[in-house]
Amino acid sequence: MKSFLNVEDLGSLRQALAEATEIKNNRFKYVEKGRNKTALLVFFNNSLRTRLSTQKAAQNLGMNVIVLDVNAGAWKLETEHGVVMDGDKSEHLLEAIPVMGSYCDIIGIRSFASLTDREYDYAETVYNQFVKYSGRPVFAMETATVHPLQAFADLITINEWAAKRPADRPVKVVLTWAPHPRALPQAVPNSFAQWMLAAQAPGAALPQGIEFVITHPIGYELDPKFTKGATIEYDQMKAFKDADFVYAKNWSCPGVSRIEAYGRVLNDYDTMLDWTVSARQMDVTNNAHFMHCLPVRRNMIVTDDVIEAPTSLVIPEAANREISATVVLKRMLDALNSH
Ligand code: CP
Repeated sequence: MKSFLNVEDLGSLRQALAEATEIKNNRFKYVEKGRNKTALLVFFNNSLRTRLSTQKAAQNLGMNVIVLDVNAGAWKLETEHGVVMDGDKSEHLLEAIPVMGSYCDIIGIRSFASLTDREYDYAETVYNQFVKYSGRPVFAMETATVHPLQAFADLITINEWAAKRPADRPVKVVLTWAPHPRALPQAVPNSFAQWMLAAQAPGAALPQGIEFVITHPIGYELDPKFTKGATIEYDQMKAFKDADFVYAKNWSCPGVSRIEAYGRVLNDYDTMLDWTVSARQMDVTNNAHFMHCLPVRRNMIVTDDVIEAPTSLVIPEAANREISATVVLKRMLDALNSH
């Protein structure tokens, strides 16, 4: 595997989940695979979970790890081509990337969406420059449009907890938009939708399959590239009915039906608070598990009682980030070691 951005990059999800279980049962089984190999983790944006879990994953595999916070100590990087660099950016990404590649064997990138230029963001411009110029396998640690390590951890979590429910029908998984005071990217919901749809068929990932529903206010339609085939239900209460898993996330306008509104918050404060996940919605579910990628704004996205309920999975979900990252890095090391 030379790039990890989309669900297809991982191949069979059933196989990937089996590897996740194997690694969870023995995290250091493959500790020799990464001997004398270095992972460079490049952060253009803040992180808690991705930073810690990916380092831990690399260490599980015996790798050396270098973490670079581009905005804390490195030269400020220009990412646009053809600009006259007479401002505050001292180095161009086109020199910085091959230099970074010369110090490592695998590179992870966190680079969020600009939320101002949809074409630039959805072309995955920064990630693809790393693929093109680093000479190294590259994996996404949340890019402009996707967060596959999160979605893989989410699928691992759903697989584990679905196994405790009766298998006589597909588990119902609901992705719900939830309020946030700031405009946020679409990477997490894009990937979650992409991975749930890939896992939907019985046997593709879970034995019983998945019924996948997305609910959000009008105007927040995600790019069909990620959601084609999903059921969209604009009535949140209807969507929640009989759900087994509720996955909450805020996202700004994806600009699908209104390109001029790309990256904006569309609704006013009071209206959007109707979408906060609370006991009102959870009461119509099938005693659903609550999920969120974290960090989460309490009593905006979800009420205290829901996130603190015994059915909340936010902590095991975050813990599974170590597992998803270990599987992905192991696959990349396998590809490197086979050359
Ligand atoms: N879920 C997630 O990616 O968390 P961080 O932004 O803290 O890495």
